[in-house]
Amino acid sequence: AHMEHMETAAKKAASDSKDKDGMLSCAAITAPESSAPIRKFDITAARTILKLDNGETVEAWTFNGSSPGPELRVKEGDRVVVTLHNKDLEDGVTIHWHGIAVPCSQDGIAGVTQDAVPPGGQFTYTFIAASPGTYWYHSHQMSSIQASKGLLGALIVEPKQRPVSDPSTVEATALYQQLGSAMLVNGSANGLAVPGKRGEQVRLRLINAGNETMEFDVDGAPFRVLAMDGHELHSPGLLDGTIIPIGAGQRYDLLIQVPESRQAVVYSPMAESLSIRIGSGSHPQHSEGGKLFSFVDYGMPLPNDPAPSVEPDRHFELKLGQTLFAKSINGKSFHEIPPMTVKEGDHILISVSNEGGGDHPFHVHGHTFRVLSRNGVALKGSPVYLDTLLTKKGETYELYMEANNPGLWMAHCHNLKHASMGMSMMLDYE
Ligand code: C2O
Ligand code: CU
Repeated sequence: AHMEHMETAAKKAASDSKDKDGMLSCAAITAPESSAPIRKFDITAARTILKLDNGETVEAWTFNGSSPGPELRVKEGDRVVVTLHNKDLEDGVTIHWHGIAVPCSQDGIAGVTQDAVPPGGQFTYTFIAASPGTYWYHSHQMSSIQASKGLLGALIVEPKQRPVSDPSTVEATALYQQLGSAMLVNGSANGLAVPGKRGEQVRLRLINAGNETMEFDVDGAPFRVLAMDGHELHSPGLLDGTIIPIGAGQRYDLLIQVPESRQAVVYSPMAESLSIRIGSGSHPQHSEGGKLFSFVDYGMPLPNDPAPSVEPDRHFELKLGQTLFAKSINGKSFHEIPPMTVKEGDHILISVSNEGGGDHPFHVHGHTFRVLSRNGVALKGSPVYLDTLLTKKGETYELYMEANNPGLWMAHCHNLKHASMGMSMMLDYE
């Protein structure tokens, strides 16, 4: 089977589109000058032998000596300045800011928006953290290898003002990843304890930084989904006995009230030892089953819902599937796939269907889309905005997006193995 790296394909697509008619050069699009407060970070990528808390030793690639790398916490509106250094990764390294609409040149795509940073080199990323929420970052140089080797971390943009829907007093991040043969949460193979007093409200930021869909159960307390992919839902309802499927690359923020018993747990059957124990730190009885969270549970419609009423200027249909040797979009892979070409200001409709070959979490760089419908049925609850959409076999979604961030962008399955096997394409501005 042929395994290429999506960045190679992206590079080819990039040079093809430049040949055509001198399309906008991504490299020239940088963060505008502003007087926003500056938050500076230094991140060094290096080979590191990590001793996990289950006794296992892994040869990992780390950011600042750990995997996940440091959690970057900034405030809405900050100017974020991150200098990436490469100590000793021969293949070079970049950082992609997953879910943040950065200017194109800061997107971290090796071969397209920048060259990978060679050993001994550095690159400084600058962007405005314009919208609060839960995001993450990872290398986008041979990303399917480098992310699974450990080059990733959480990026939290705190809101200037807490939304009314969020009465939380405690907050925690839980980043799930696969490292070597181990599943980890925040780098631990033993789960997480989030202490809390009776009645306290915990905002839990779940990040799926692995390649597989994870299903989560909350036991011992009803809960709400506050946000998906960093975007707050409107009036999220109370859920109980509900299973939350989180696709690779996606983030869900849950609100959980510490119950009388002080025993609640967030738990995923595919990573049993990685429970998040809320309250006293001990396990409640685990109850089996529950119904799958679906789009109808997403909260209440907005009163003056700015539902897209304009006719789309462009319509793209993407069928995610597989051929004999590759993962494909519309039966093609990589550079055979024509880019979605748009112009600034366009209203774009994208139909995405999953025709098999696994779950395909569909991710678009530099943009946020609104989910309009699933299998032909319009979403009725809270508007849902995502940067990564989990699709399961047989599902079709309609997405609505504004072309508001000129440049050259990737769109791909966030099972990064699938992406490297062909399920990857470009979004280009004329
Ligand atoms: Cu997390 Cu190309 O993406
Ligand atoms: Cu996929």
